[in-house]
Amino acid sequence: MWSGRFRQPLDPEFERWQRSLSFDRRLLHYELAASSAHARALKNAGVLSSEELIGILQGLEQIGERAAASPSFLDDDEAEDVHHFVEKQLVALIGEVGYKLHSGRSRNEQIAADLRLYVRAAIDQLRQEIAELCTVLADRAEHAGDAAMPAYTHLQRAEPVLLGHWLLAYVEMFLRDADRLADCRKRLNLCPLGSGAVAGATLPLDRDFMAEALSFDRPTANSIDATSDRDFVLEFVNDLSLLALHLSRWAEEMILFSSQEYGFVGLPEAYSTGSSAMPQKKNPDLLELVRGKSGRVLGNAVALMVAVKGLPLAYNKDLQETQEPLFDSADTLLQMMPLVTAWMKSVDFHLDRMQHAAQSGFTNAWAAATYLVHRGVPSRLAHELIGKAVQICLDRNCELKDLPLSELQSLSPVFDQDFYAALELPSVLAIHDVPGGTSPARVRQAIPATRRKIELLREEVHAHA
Ligand code: ARG
Repeated sequence: MWSGRFRQPLDPEFERWQRSLSFDRRLLHYELAASSAHARALKNAGVLSSEELIGILQGLEQIGERAAASPSFLDDDEAEDVHHFVEKQLVALIGEVGYKLHSGRSRNEQIAADLRLYVRAAIDQLRQEIAELCTVLADRAEHAGDAAMPAYTHLQRAEPVLLGHWLLAYVEMFLRDADRLADCRKRLNLCPLGSGAVAGATLPLDRDFMAEALSFDRPTANSIDATSDRDFVLEFVNDLSLLALHLSRWAEEMILFSSQEYGFVGLPEAYSTGSSAMPQKKNPDLLELVRGKSGRVLGNAVALMVAVKGLPLAYNKDLQETQEPLFDSADTLLQMMPLVTAWMKSVDFHLDRMQHAAQSGFTNAWAAATYLVHRGVPSRLAHELIGKAVQICLDRNCELKDLPLSELQSLSPVFDQDFYAALELPSVLAIHDVPGGTSPARVRQAIPATRRKIELLREEVHAHA
């Protein structure tokens, strides 16, 4: 590819070590698409004849077919990277004219184009997977109806919420993750072809034509930037870190909920394992791996940012090192998402146990104070009064509803018989009657509203397919 100015061959160990074909081979599909666009631009610029163009396009197609038929076709010990590989194969297939394909271009723009195409496709796949997961969460939220569970703050029982409300909380997080990915896609969808090595192509190539051929919105604006920045990769892996982090929090919560101490969910056997030592065990392996793998996704994002941090413009070979962490993060999430969706579809909610927990541990204390507020008691004072009532209960090991009215009235004359109804779960849930709150009426509205957002996401993904 570049041996002309060299007198000595490369040290064989260095030669092997600096190659990227073992990992950039997965870009072959994009490399071929970008090369076809470049070849057609060369023909339009008068560099290739019609016959030469046809030969090159057929050659590129054949390379794609061979790779699809047998992945070992890509096991090439001589090619330095996927760009070199295609050139070698093309020349082997159609002869010397294959070398004409590289006219006016550089691998620096090629790798930038291939990576943009790769990330764009990964974004579309991931957004599809997010839509699937959100649909299952919304289905389960709808199915849960008015079933309640305790919500925690500081991991202490706080207030009851609808199970559906809690499930929809995760949908919101994942929809934001999908949104961030869409935003990343918008910025990356520009075509670097025609940027050359750093200063722009050396031939008058129609960049608008190449951009359109690859479904990019338009060509990139600056050849130095286009060949040297990987901020679209960094943005993508950071978006993936947030997605992985949300999944990790979800997994952690599910692990807690599946413990005997909580007993809120029953682990699906298809996604759990036993212990080789303790016969009674059923372990939440899927969840633990989701939590564990989020660490490597975060680590990849840091590795990439550090790799790019000190690079002077423009292309530096360091940039080759941005590929593996990128692929690893995308693979990790793409493999994880369908499993999380399947797990979520099959998990058992122990509704009785959740409901019981939702009603004990004074989760109705704020509602009790609100009862007093409605009767004109200043909220600080109401808080204090209910706090005292809780204190009495704790001494007696009972709940607020077990305190006789006379005793409550000795704390404040404002307490009346209807106080007991205000303590019941349906009333406690119902008073959270604000948009975004957990009252059953609001959650019933939130479900279709959430479904509309998921539908919109699906439509966007579909439009890009
Ligand atoms: N394999 C290289 C990479 O991934 C392709 C670009 C090589 N460019 C160069 N000037 N050596 O970065």
